[in-house]
Amino acid sequence: MVLFLYLFLLCLTAGFIHVHAQIQTGYISIDCGSQENFNYVDLDTGISYTSDGSFVTTGVNKNISLEYAYPNSPNLPQPLSDLRSFPQGNKNCYTLRPNGGKTSLNLIRATFMYGNYDGENKLPEFDLYLGVNLWLSIKFKNSSDVITTEIISVALEDTYSVCLVNVGLGIPFISGLELRPLDGSIYKTDPEISGSLVLFQRLDIGYTNGSGRYSDDIYDRIWSTYNSPSWDSLHTSLDIDISGDSYRAPNEVMQTGSTPKNGTEYLEFSWSVSDPKARFYIYLYFADLVVLGRNQTREFNVSWNEVQLFGNVRPRAYYASTFYNLRPLVGNKHKISIMKSANANVPPMLNAIEIYRVLEFSENATFSRDVDAVVNIRTTYKINRNWVGDPCGPKKYSWEGIICNYTNSNPPQIILLNLSASDLTGQIAASIANLSSLETLDLSNNSLTGPIPDFLENLTVLKSLDLRGNQLSGYVPKSLLERSRTGLLKLSVDSRNLCDSGSCQSNKKKILIPILASLLPFLVVLLLLIIFWRAKRKQKASKTSSNEEGRTIESNNKQFTYAEVANMTNNFQTPIGKGGFGTVYLGTLKNGKQAAVKLLSSSSSQGYNEFQNEAELLMRVHHKNLAAFVGYSHDNNRMALVYEYMANGNLKSYISDRNTHPLSWEMRLKIAIDAAQGLEYLHHGCRPAIIHRDVKSANILLSENLDAKIADFGLSKGLPDDKTTHILTDVIGTTGYLDPEYHRSHNLTEKSDVYSFGIVLLELITGQPAIIKSMDHIHIMQYVGQYLEKGEITSVIDEQMRDDLNLNSVCKAIEISVACTRAMSIQRMTMGEVKRVFGDGNGPWTE
Ligand SMILES: *[C@@H]1O[C@H](CO)[C@@H](O)[C@H](O)[C@H]1NC(C)=O
Ligand SMILES: *[C@@H]1O[C@H](CO)[C@@H](O)[C@H](O)[C@H]1NC(C)=O
Ligand SMILES: *[C@@H]1O[C@H](CO)[C@@H](O)[C@H](O)[C@H]1NC(C)=O
Ligand SMILES: *[C@@H]1O[C@H](CO)[C@@H](O)[C@H](O)[C@H]1NC(C)=O
Ligand SMILES: *[C@@H]1O[C@H](CO)[C@@H](O)[C@H](O)[C@H]1NC(C)=O
Ligand SMILES: *[C@@H]1O[C@H](CO)[C@@H](O)[C@H](O)[C@H]1NC(C)=O
Ligand SMILES: *[C@@H]1O[C@H](CO)[C@@H](O)[C@H](O)[C@H]1NC(C)=O
Ligand SMILES: *[C@@H]1O[C@H](CO)[C@@H](O)[C@H](O)[C@H]1NC(C)=O
Ligand SMILES: *[C@@H]1O[C@H](CO)[C@@H](O)[C@H](O)[C@H]1NC(C)=O
Ligand SMILES: *[C@@H]1O[C@H](CO)[C@@H](O)[C@H](O)[C@H]1NC(C)=O
Ligand SMILES: *[C@@H]1O[C@H](CO)[C@@H](O)[C@H](O)[C@H]1NC(C)=O
Ligand SMILES: *[C@@H]1O[C@H](CO)[C@@H](O)[C@H](O)[C@H]1NC(C)=O
Repeated sequence: MVLFLYLFLLCLTAGFIHVHAQIQTGYISIDCGSQENFNYVDLDTGISYTSDGSFVTTGVNKNISLEYAYPNSPNLPQPLSDLRSFPQGNKNCYTLRPNGGKTSLNLIRATFMYGNYDGENKLPEFDLYLGVNLWLSIKFKNSSDVITTEIISVALEDTYSVCLVNVGLGIPFISGLELRPLDGSIYKTDPEISGSLVLFQRLDIGYTNGSGRYSDDIYDRIWSTYNSPSWDSLHTSLDIDISGDSYRAPNEVMQTGSTPKNGTEYLEFSWSVSDPKARFYIYLYFADLVVLGRNQTREFNVSWNEVQLFGNVRPRAYYASTFYNLRPLVGNKHKISIMKSANANVPPMLNAIEIYRVLEFSENATFSRDVDAVVNIRTTYKINRNWVGDPCGPKKYSWEGIICNYTNSNPPQIILLNLSASDLTGQIAASIANLSSLETLDLSNNSLTGPIPDFLENLTVLKSLDLRGNQLSGYVPKSLLERSRTGLLKLSVDSRNLCDSGSCQSNKKKILIPILASLLPFLVVLLLLIIFWRAKRKQKASKTSSNEEGRTIESNNKQFTYAEVANMTNNFQTPIGKGGFGTVYLGTLKNGKQAAVKLLSSSSSQGYNEFQNEAELLMRVHHKNLAAFVGYSHDNNRMALVYEYMANGNLKSYISDRNTHPLSWEMRLKIAIDAAQGLEYLHHGCRPAIIHRDVKSANILLSENLDAKIADFGLSKGLPDDKTTHILTDVIGTTGYLDPEYHRSHNLTEKSDVYSFGIVLLELITGQPAIIKSMDHIHIMQYVGQYLEKGEITSVIDEQMRDDLNLNSVCKAIEISVACTRAMSIQRMTMGEVKRVFGDGNGPWTE
């Protein structure tokens, strides 16, 4: 009964009812806000509507308030009785996939009616976008005001995004959304203008009985009626042939038209807009509705603002044709006149007109490769964010966690992707590597697993990478670490991805040290020595504990201000050392522990970022034989490094200072082993290897118990020059310790550190510095060599310990130092081999 009444009223008011629906091929007709999976045929129009379904993933369904709904508002089209509102997020989008795909031409229509659906009685204002371009700002006059807007647009991608943007003036919503495929040859615009056409007016001239959509309008345009009081309407009941005109205005529209009341006058209409740069296209539909006599001529000219557009138009009887301007009509005032020409004796006429305003593309859509990549990321990780529409546009409404670079000449590109704490699982998605402009990537605090992939190296402009707080395995790719070292990349990773935990015990297999023929003279000497050792066997060296490596407890390392550094050192009161890039002061940390504060000279060539990256990275490297790095300061161009305090200073001073307790061979051996373990960790425990570049006795620090720790690792690059460190082009190191092969080739490898370590070992054995000033600045290798050649092995041994030592052990150490300092780096031992030889508890050391 109710339905019947409804139908009856509809018939009465709308004037017609369509029993036969159009062939709705390619139509998308969404009744936004209708119940899920509710599909129906609208009895008024015959159009099949579907619910929001797969077109949108966000928003909530609402019904308009009863006051505006049926039966209080019997004329209300059914799609307007409900709507979908979007209380969440700035931008929500429908995705429409036209049948014709990319480059197809389509008409899209959006309809809005507030109807006090939220009971607030407050009209919202919001923006409607097609892709990244503002289509219309929606402003209602009242709660029953129906806003309908249409746009004709070429699909730039496979899909259209119709987006509702919250501009802070109320929650956006939409009542209906429709897409109609068009013949690609119509509604052409000047190819130089990139943009779409927004409907301004579509008038069915001369018809006064109602308005509507017609079942034979294959494009489902909605025509409004218009007739001026000074016009006479024409009407025919005969069919109009529209087959020759691809604009395909429906028969009902073409069957009516108007002529001026006074047979001699002209038809004229005008409109104005506020924007003087507004551009318009008009489409005029003509078909004569009477058969003229032999002596009759209907001919007219069409002009715009007194400029002729089309001349001598003669409409054929019952045959439709469409006239349109090829170049846009620009201005804020527009007047179209249809004027009888000189030959005519019958007044001009017009059947229908469409006026479209050009919506210029104000923004470019995001670079398509970036879109593909980020859409792939969205799918891969099932990102639970409002990631809809274009990732970068419209400008103020890029996706949450994405920042783009907008340039005037190019499509925007993604430069920041922040997926921190987003519950990501699985591996790092390969499509990230396709974001070629990415500068910042934050994937921290997720549950990502698998290796740190090499393809991250493809992100060549990456400036910041944060992978902390994941379960990633493996090591940071070499080139990323290298970029981090040179200050190009701020790298934040878990320490596990930089170095081994440091506790894994190497396999027990003995590695044979290849002693090569090039060392024959030494071998002879050593052979003789073996006999000598056998005789002196009674001495015993005590065991060195070398198998309890491990990470120190992660200290609370951080960045300090200069004021904190000053405070910590009591205004740099107690200098405890000098050299190595600056003065070292004694300091006290907040936890009461003592610290060594190295104040670097301000003439640094190293940039802030470079310094900071390096420092942050090194704070993550922990080993008991590496000086623990507490923090750093880079404030007002004053750089300071804060290390754990080492009571016994550095090895160089300790050896050279003849007043301290002389070091026994056992102690020296332990120092050598400690240093070897520290270096081995840098070379083989960290991936890629950290090359120290400046191994020397001055960089080996001694604790209260004479445990040795390597200091300044990784920091030597680019640090200011001091008297002992030379930076020759890109060769870094200290005279006396510098690998001659590296010096020649500039090709840095771990073996350069091995060379320097060999020199340190000789210092420990001989008690001489690397360059012996008192002997005409000869090099320690020369010094040792001259004795060994003569077989005077005991002469090279530091006289401070000559009386009490295991000569066997010293000889083995000499052997190692020789194997470390060979001219060709390929023939040198690795630190791993050195460590194994030292670390073998059954070696000559303990006999
Ligand atoms: C809207 O009204 C229909 C009945 O007309 C009802 O089934 C539906 O649940 C309502 N929707 C909402 C969101 O209230
Ligand atoms: C609402 O606004 C529309 C458009 O201006 C107007 O036609 C209609 O009469 C108004 N309705 C009410 C109830 O004010
Ligand atoms: C408009 O309606 C009137 C009366 O209902 C009718 O006489 C007239 O023919 C109609 N005009 C057209 C063009 O259908
Ligand atoms: C019709 O046009 C003629 C010539 O332009 C004019 O003299 C006459 O007054 C017009 N009549 C009406 C009713 O406008
Ligand atoms: C056209 O010719 C008919 C006769 O064939 C005549 O009645 C009519 O007045 C003519 N009309 C014009 C405008 O000359
Ligand atoms: C109509 O257009 C034709 C062709 O462009 C032109 O020759 C003629 O002068 C125009 N007539 C009027 C009245 O403007
Ligand atoms: C869009 O990009 C093209 C080049 O791809 C450029 O010529 C045009 O100016 C850009 N448009 C905007 C609005 O940035
Ligand atoms: C944005 O892109 C332009 C052109 O590619 C580039 O010059 C500029 O540095 C970029 N800006 C940022 C912040 O990356
Ligand atoms: C990423 O977002 C989180 C919070 O959402 C923020 O703490 C972090 O600083 C952001 N990272 C970057 C690189 O902007
Ligand atoms: C990266 O982009 C290229 C070209 O657009 C595409 O062929 C490739 O599949 C993309 N790679 C990933 C992992 O998405
Ligand atoms: C990541 O986790 C750490 C430790 O739980 C926390 O301090 C930090 O705030 C988190 N960051 C984000 C962006 O959630
Ligand atoms: C990274 O770049 C290399 C070399 O340019 C290329 O072979 C590889 O396919 C790229 N990887 C990805 C995931 O794009």
